[in-house]
Amino acid sequence: MIVSTRTVYLETMGCQMNMLDSELVLGRLRQLGYRPVDDMAGADVVLINTCSVRDHAEQKAYSRLGALKKPKAARPEMVIGVIGCMAERDPDGIFEKTPHVDLVCGPGELSRIPAMIEEVLETRQKLVALSENKSRRNSLLARAVDHDSVEALDLSREAGLPEQVTQAYVRIQRGCDKFCTFCIVPYTRGAERCRPPQVIVDEARLLAEHGCKEVTLLGQTVNSYAFPENGRRVGLADLLERVNAIEGLERIRFVTSYPGDFTDDILQAMRDLPKVCEYLHIPVQSGSDAVLKRMNRRYTVGRYEELLARARETVPGIALASDFIVGFCGETESEFQASFELVERARFKNLFCFKYSPRPTTVADRRLPDDVPDTVKRARNLAILQLQERISLADNQSFIGRDVDVLVEGFSKAAVKAQEAEQFRGSEVGWRRADQLVGRTRGDRIVVFSGSQADIGQVRCVRIQSATALTLFGELTPAAVANTVTPRTADVRRTTGP
Ligand code: SAH
Ligand code: F3S
Repeated sequence: MIVSTRTVYLETMGCQMNMLDSELVLGRLRQLGYRPVDDMAGADVVLINTCSVRDHAEQKAYSRLGALKKPKAARPEMVIGVIGCMAERDPDGIFEKTPHVDLVCGPGELSRIPAMIEEVLETRQKLVALSENKSRRNSLLARAVDHDSVEALDLSREAGLPEQVTQAYVRIQRGCDKFCTFCIVPYTRGAERCRPPQVIVDEARLLAEHGCKEVTLLGQTVNSYAFPENGRRVGLADLLERVNAIEGLERIRFVTSYPGDFTDDILQAMRDLPKVCEYLHIPVQSGSDAVLKRMNRRYTVGRYEELLARARETVPGIALASDFIVGFCGETESEFQASFELVERARFKNLFCFKYSPRPTTVADRRLPDDVPDTVKRARNLAILQLQERISLADNQSFIGRDVDVLVEGFSKAAVKAQEAEQFRGSEVGWRRADQLVGRTRGDRIVVFSGSQADIGQVRCVRIQSATALTLFGELTPAAVANTVTPRTADVRRTTGP
């Protein structure tokens, strides 16, 4: 094993899957002696983990790469790598637009990063590693590296783990087979592949042994999880049961769910397994059946609302979250209204709303005109966000006077600001004290309160005193201060005691 003394700067854009990928790459590099640094321009190796889901995300990556042009000219020995979905989607475009990039590596080949860095340094050739299909096709501008197993990186997790972790992601599934017509993910992350249950359980146990209290099982459509075992199918509900049995873990989440084929056994598992949190992120995308059809979403609005009702009935106190796209190809005013009305009826805890962004190679981009003007997309986006902001505020205000269980994540300011900026772009960001702690309830509600370093990584009981649309504010209950409670209940089941 070559041990390096180099510094590495890794920046992550996009989804939770990318955050996990970055953690694994950085863990592997740290294990090889690399030292992570915050100074991008001064680092020996710079990696940008990119997202392709909307054009905006790609522009952001190019802007970061642009900032590296001068440092690279001054220090040509610097290695610049573009990894993740944009790397997979458009390797040639990256080398053309940013010729100072040395290596491009898709999300399925990240275990190759250390070897690629060495090879770049040795040969000064540009390198590209893409999924098997694409490597065969070969990039025109760089030499393709051989295909390797994508599992290797996940399995190297132990070596890169920090001493203490509170929360962690565990991949249960890669890729996606749904092919929603707007979505680039099936092209950048490939076909759906489920990891074996034993590997997942072992990884979650390893995390628990490192002090981890909460694991989030990750996949694009986690409710489709299926793995054959001794002639029977292990599904998500079975997996939840096995992870629930791991000692030391306190909370289990899973994202993202797909509204089609969402079976009741998963809801029952959420109800019956004490560690599984009462939180479901289940993107609907649109409230119009005609739009859902154009999107190739394989359910109707009626079926979706039935699912929400079943979830609320089976899992008391469940918090529901969703994603919407506005301004999809051909979206009429009345089709948009249908989305607006669904938001009004559904009473989500929160939602993410995106303006449709055509992605090259997707079916929508090839077959449907992107005919909703950007000004209309923007207005529709704002209308939905403002409506949801009112709903979230009312929902959060209903917690005032109640006690909630909070897994404390750390000091508050940065975390809260990032979340608000992402969700209600353009709305007022409230003032926060930097010495306050932030954590989440089981229903994924953000709670800010005063406490100490010792509370970080613990579940604490907090009495809610005030609320904004995105944040609950409170104080530790006297019992929590005395550390005499170990609460384990859903957000709304618990009420303030006498
Ligand atoms: N199942 C995935 C979805 C990945 S994309 C998951 O784990 O979340 C995340 C969200 O981005 C989608 O739910 C959708 O609302 C949005 N999105 C995807 N493609 C988009 C596009 N072309 N334009 C705008 N928003 C998009
Ligand atoms: Fe994308 Fe649809 Fe899969 S949104 S990740 S193709 S479920």
